[in-house]
Amino acid sequence: MSDTLTTAPRSAGAPLAPTDATPMLAVRGVKTFYGNIMALKGVDVDVHRGEIVTLIGSNGAGKSTLMMTIFGQPRAREGQILYEGRDITQMPTHEIAHLKIAQSPEGRRIFPRMTVFENLQMGASVDGFAHFEQDLEKVFVLFPRLKERINQRGGTLSGGEQQMLAIGRALMSRPRLLMLDEPSLGLAPLIVKQIFDAIRELNRAEGLTVFLVEQNAFHALKLAHRGYVLVNGLVTLSGEGRELLERPEVRAAYLEGGKH
Ligand SMILES: Nc1ncnc2c1ncn2[C@@H]1O[C@H](COP(=O)(O)OP(=O)(O)OP(=O)(O)O)[C@@H](O)[C@H]1O
Ligand SMILES: [Mg+2]
Repeated sequence: MSDTLTTAPRSAGAPLAPTDATPMLAVRGVKTFYGNIMALKGVDVDVHRGEIVTLIGSNGAGKSTLMMTIFGQPRAREGQILYEGRDITQMPTHEIAHLKIAQSPEGRRIFPRMTVFENLQMGASVDGFAHFEQDLEKVFVLFPRLKERINQRGGTLSGGEQQMLAIGRALMSRPRLLMLDEPSLGLAPLIVKQIFDAIRELNRAEGLTVFLVEQNAFHALKLAHRGYVLVNGLVTLSGEGRELLERPEVRAAYLEGGKH
């Protein structure tokens, strides 16, 4: 690999500037335990800049555990997590948030007593409110419904609106990597389409890198450039999104029998 790509000046102790070939996020042999139970058994996943990558798997496969392990809660007991070439495996969670990785966790976890506006403010606080008005407008263009509900408390929004708010809040922190845990969970097909269209648009227009965890394999694999299948804490298949959609083992396990 040549040095010619590493043009940014480096301060002492800073990680090596990543090259184009360095994955934005690299998960290497990660094992995560809950007590004595091994929930991740040596997981490898790469996410490159500008990609939408999806991880599909059934209930209990370890999808949320992987997402949370990347944020350091729980910690990986073995293996490495690299972000832009830098080892973040042991980095405190609040410092990881400042690396411009944003997460919309499973179950949405918005602040129910705060208004839509206040929830979005919380997201912007990570970025120091530097671009607040501009980013707010962008979120409202993406999800006009949130603008209509600006003074409504988060807890009184519908499920779909709460999901939009969770994604909007994550976007307000100006992430370079957006991680979404089951954004389609429990939502009507029309709302799922709106959410997935929004993700596609963010990726297309701004090159936002997205790591998406989903049980809704059909929509997720259609949207994603690449995908991984997680079974019982291990990646069993990976490939291009559309290619995985055609695989008989994916169809049998995740698509047929009305599962989508
Ligand atoms: N806090 C916890 N304590 C103990 N075991 C846990 C904990 N959280 C998750 N697990 C276990 O770890 C395994 C993986 O769970 P995880 O939530 O990561 O699955 P998932 O793929 O996200 O499933 P789902 O699609 O239902 O959200 C499951 O067997 C689960 O019971
Ligand atoms: Mg989960």
